[in-house]
Amino acid sequence: MTEPFTAYRLRCEHLAVVPGLNTTAPRFSWALAGSGEGRIQTSYRLVLATSQAKALAGIGDIWDSGLVASPAQSLVPYSGRRLLENRRLHWSVQVGDEQGRLSAWAQPADIFTGLPSDQWGGDWIARYFVLPTGREVPQNTDYDNRFQARPADYLRRDFSLSTPVRQATLYVTALGVYEAYLNGQRIGDAVLAPGWTDYHQRVEYQSYDVTDLLVGGANCLGAILGEGWYCGRVGHNQRRAGNHYGGRPALNAQLMITHQDGTTTSITTGQQWQTSQGPICYSDMLVGELYDARLERPGWNLSGHDTTGWQPVESFLPAPRPPVLEASRCEPVREVARLPMREIAQLEDGTRIFDSGQNLAGYAELSVTARSGDSFTMHHAEMLAADGSLYRENLRFAVAEDIFIAAGRGIETFKPHFTFHGFRYLGLRGPVEADVTLTAIAIQTDSETTGGLETGNEMVNQLVSNIFWSQRGNFLSVPTDCPQRDERLGWSADAQVFWRTAGYVMDVSGFYAKWMEDIADAQLPDGAFTDIAPSRPLNPYRLTAQPGAPGWGDGPIIMGWAHYLRYGDRDLLATHYQRFVRWMDHIEAANPNLLRLNAVYNNYGDWLSIGPATDRAVVATAYWAHIADLMSRIARVLNNPADVDRYGDLFARLRQRFAAEFVAADGAIRGDTQTAYLLALDFGLLEIKRREAAMIHLKRTIAAAGGHLQTGFLGVKHLCPVLADNGDTTGAFDLLLNQTYPSWGFSIAQGATTIWERWDGWTPQHGFQARAMNSFNHYAYGSVGEWLFARIAGIDWDEADPGFATIRMRPLFDRRIGFSRAHYQSSRGRIQTDWSFEGNTVRFSATIPPNSRALIELPVAPHRLQYETVTDITASATGCQIACGAGLYHFTFELDGGQLGPA
Ligand code: BGC
Repeated sequence: MTEPFTAYRLRCEHLAVVPGLNTTAPRFSWALAGSGEGRIQTSYRLVLATSQAKALAGIGDIWDSGLVASPAQSLVPYSGRRLLENRRLHWSVQVGDEQGRLSAWAQPADIFTGLPSDQWGGDWIARYFVLPTGREVPQNTDYDNRFQARPADYLRRDFSLSTPVRQATLYVTALGVYEAYLNGQRIGDAVLAPGWTDYHQRVEYQSYDVTDLLVGGANCLGAILGEGWYCGRVGHNQRRAGNHYGGRPALNAQLMITHQDGTTTSITTGQQWQTSQGPICYSDMLVGELYDARLERPGWNLSGHDTTGWQPVESFLPAPRPPVLEASRCEPVREVARLPMREIAQLEDGTRIFDSGQNLAGYAELSVTARSGDSFTMHHAEMLAADGSLYRENLRFAVAEDIFIAAGRGIETFKPHFTFHGFRYLGLRGPVEADVTLTAIAIQTDSETTGGLETGNEMVNQLVSNIFWSQRGNFLSVPTDCPQRDERLGWSADAQVFWRTAGYVMDVSGFYAKWMEDIADAQLPDGAFTDIAPSRPLNPYRLTAQPGAPGWGDGPIIMGWAHYLRYGDRDLLATHYQRFVRWMDHIEAANPNLLRLNAVYNNYGDWLSIGPATDRAVVATAYWAHIADLMSRIARVLNNPADVDRYGDLFARLRQRFAAEFVAADGAIRGDTQTAYLLALDFGLLEIKRREAAMIHLKRTIAAAGGHLQTGFLGVKHLCPVLADNGDTTGAFDLLLNQTYPSWGFSIAQGATTIWERWDGWTPQHGFQARAMNSFNHYAYGSVGEWLFARIAGIDWDEADPGFATIRMRPLFDRRIGFSRAHYQSSRGRIQTDWSFEGNTVRFSATIPPNSRALIELPVAPHRLQYETVTDITASATGCQIACGAGLYHFTFELDGGQLGPA
């Protein structure tokens, strides 16, 4: 006897809590749990209610979908009456199973309907650039610093409430970064909000239910503003280090109060606000923070504070135009882990070195008892130099220095507000006798961790951990290349090669929905996608953003397709389709003869490869063919037959051109590099007989490199998949398990806790690579993660039935791995696989969530497979294929010597 299903993990527009709706038809998704085989959802009923209790009771006083006979459980659109703004609503779902039994109502989730841009009644407010006559500029040199970073602005407004409050929501955002306070309480736990967008076009806001923080009578709303991405230092262009979007940070907030008697009050930003400065003498992403606790202003965010010396704010219209205000599309950045730091050495100059044991992005919290005026300087580094000091040369112009000046008030605890550093180690300078406690705090866009994988091989486990931590350290409002040096930009190739991996590790659906908007905002008038998004000019001599190189500008199409396959989100493709078309047109117009030689811009090629460089025309043309192929598939999904043909035809012609231009009679591809063969094979650019030849060449190039990879950012993703897909599974495992240079294992053998930017970031022979570009936290080479999850664990999507509605399970076995235990929380439910060796015997088990199906392929003939409950099993070229529905299945079989992998 099975139980009815449980519907859980409710998501609206990909989020557990939506801070506001940017659409009139928000989409709802839920996951299903429940034991038993072949189980399906036959119906659902969605309710949207004004209270949690009503939602839980199935009372949809805003909307009740009624019982809908449907298996749909992902991105089901709202179809009730137009939702009013500024509501906090609650939704739940009930589902029917194959016997028609209804589940209990799911634990409700919240929806803030939000505030459309035109409903924001307040002003953008900021400190004056030049104070009005009669006002004094503070004559205070505490704020002077060699970086010209500005002190944080403190803003406050008193207001009074005479009627009891029923409900209150604060909508708030900034040009810059903010912390908001109500009656002295910090609102929410977001860090670096509102995140990074192209502030000239769009800024995201957050919504907080603050009902419980309001009091009758006098209240105070406050905020601290930092420069952030808006006007602080971002990127590596020293000529344009800061002020990318404007010259000073600004706040926009609207507190919407509904009283018990039904009346409303709205507290907005405007002339009632005052501003001053406080203990944050500066706080800049690249520079760090100087915090002087002696300058604290106790009670500044409480009503009745003595505001002598506070200045009026300036209300102004941001240039070049006020940005559109939209609700956040992804989770906020939050503090996600705390790691105690251990003192490991004291240097001759008195610096005390601390180690968190993990390279990460974030900051350290310092707890200390000190005298007033005692100063503690913290420098951050990813690595130690040979003499045990911090290795900081790879930070380039990033100062990564936090300074705390104590007030002498017993135990004081400090952590910076508007900065972050990429670090594992910290060097502390300060009074030597001080007793300090240091804790490293990791921050990231707080997407749910969805995947886990453990094997019987320690090195592989460390690789999984390094991938996780590099994603964690770089998925910070936008997917950055690295978190430590003066760069931290949303590079599109790094992201596109890693995207499929990223989606296993965390739920990146909201994160991509948001970043795709940034990418769209950055697209140039001629259709070119850019190298980075949000896009700021990198080249000091260009006034517009850098157009995308092959593999870089192609990223949005590749990631959009991956987003569709993983989440079944067809709407994102529809929304951005014309942008994809414009990029395709842009390439095509510049390259009428079908070789991608023009409009290749910075043409980075197979960036940071080792050994012979791959011909850039080969890379560029292969990528063009690939995105033409994807465009034709996307057009099919969008029911656009003309474009299916148009791009299908372009793909066919590019394949021909590629073969004619680059592939010799013996199948050798121009340049004869691993990446050339990998791209040609994985992008389907070769005829069958040429594929075999290409595989032979590929294996030869690996053998010639002593069994090593030589690929850069673009090639690396394809190594293990291509070898395994083309009959050389052992070769794929060989590369994975290699520990000699260059390999993933090499960096791990050197103690890496994140993925390095370069294969040779540090070697025993040469020490550190060039300081100009040597990050130890760059996820691109971690793109092997998709193969670990999709193939070793066997948890893969199926293009014909996306969103993991059908799961393709083609696990790969190798006794050097010993076992694999993996799970992936898909948006439909939890998928799990498990395999292990006992001699030559393999046991494989798979959990398929309700309402999903699996196609399992195992390398053994049907008659040699032991199993219990499956019925649909057929022989296939490589062994057998099993089709099954939801359930938990166990298989046992023997592998022959050749299939086991080396001993
Ligand atoms: C970044 C990359 C990026 C590359 C472009 C580097 O500075 O760190 O990861 O993709 O430039 O070549």
